Amino acid sequence: MLTGKRILLIIAGGIAAYKSLDLIRRLMDQGASVRCILTKAGAEFVTPLSVSALSGEKVFMDLFDLTDESDMGHIRLSREADLVVVAPATADIMAKMAGGHANDLASTALMATDKPVLIAPAMNVEMWNHPATQRNAATLASDGITLVGPAAGDLACGEVGQGRMVEVPDLIAAIQERLARATASLPLAGKRALVTSGPTREAIDPVRYLSNHSSGKQGHAIAAALAAAGAQTTLVSGPTSEPDPAGVTIVKIESARDMLAACEAALPADIAICAAAVADWRIAEEAGSKMKKNGGTPPPMAMVENPDILATLSQATDNRPRLVIGFAAETNDLIDNATKKRARKQCDWIVANDVSTGTGTFGGDENTVHLVTDDGVEDWPRLSKTGVAEQLTSRIASWLADRDT
Ligand code: PMT
Repeated sequence: MLTGKRILLIIAGGIAAYKSLDLIRRLMDQGASVRCILTKAGAEFVTPLSVSALSGEKVFMDLFDLTDESDMGHIRLSREADLVVVAPATADIMAKMAGGHANDLASTALMATDKPVLIAPAMNVEMWNHPATQRNAATLASDGITLVGPAAGDLACGEVGQGRMVEVPDLIAAIQERLARATASLPLAGKRALVTSGPTREAIDPVRYLSNHSSGKQGHAIAAALAAAGAQTTLVSGPTSEPDPAGVTIVKIESARDMLAACEAALPADIAICAAAVADWRIAEEAGSKMKKNGGTPPPMAMVENPDILATLSQATDNRPRLVIGFAAETNDLIDNATKKRARKQCDWIVANDVSTGTGTFGGDENTVHLVTDDGVEDWPRLSKTGVAEQLTSRIASWLADRDT
């Protein structure tokens, strides 16, 4: 139920921190990835080594860790999660959250996050019952934070009452419920998306191939943005060194024909976006063994045309996605060629980008695109590829919303 979900777990300083180690394992068993922030007090109860060994990730502890901060550590940490969980949540961290403090990594990440937050309070019964804690709990609940527990029972301090951190299975159930609620409210909840990305490789012989410079950055960013907007997303990707985007089903292929088969297997979909740089041609007959130099004469290499995935999806009579979007990679007459390509392939929208030498479109982190639709041509400003992906996703969500209401 948690496949592809990213949890940021903040472990504060309480005896119940030992349960968080089990929580990490159980979350990962369910397919989630878990990044942890361990507070100074938390590190008195569990070691950074055990947390990192279980999560398989670096443990974040210090706001002023230069390497991470130069990379916007706390902002990225809190944004690159689907849910922030504080377990155990001590009286102190609750007070900081309620008061809006930001003086260490945990409190700063909690202030910087734009994601839902769930906390599992754990403390002595009198601390829990203290009017200040009760006031803070009410403030946090009214701020939209989900409180799970505390449960009643024997407490580590020897007293009995409400203050135990809830057991791990109950915490997992609450995390699942909170994530399901968060997903249901996203703009593309319930929609299915298919994205192609990266280059294809067309074999010449067992050791050589034809390909191009696509890095997969643009296509992968689109898949990530669609998934973050709640779409159930399949990414069909040629060989790239881009990391797999979270929350996306990824199908890795080599050739154009593999890509077409994988796309057809991923249907039905509401949205299809073809950002891959598919080889237009392949060698007519792939050699079964490594081709040898032949007395200085290069071997003849007849080519045949590959199937056109974008055109196939656009012109399908069965299972045509409601919105099919292509890209046009051009080195000259960008808008004119893109407009003709849209008409020829019969996709709904085309995203035109200039791939001439020096633009950095292939492999770079930024892109300047023009959106060609029935309504005309929109020139977008130069954006990061993530920015292009987010803007396109938001256009798709409005287009679907207009037609579904
Ligand atoms: O991967 P990056 O380094 O981030 O670079 C991004 C990008 C430049 C690859 C991307 O933004 C882009 O332009 N992708 C489309 C590349 C391309 O092959 O364009 P094209 O104009 O040749 O093809 C037009 C459309 O038809 C594209 O949607 C393409 O995916 C699709 N096509 C082409 C041939 C084919 N056999 N099947 C297809 O589906």
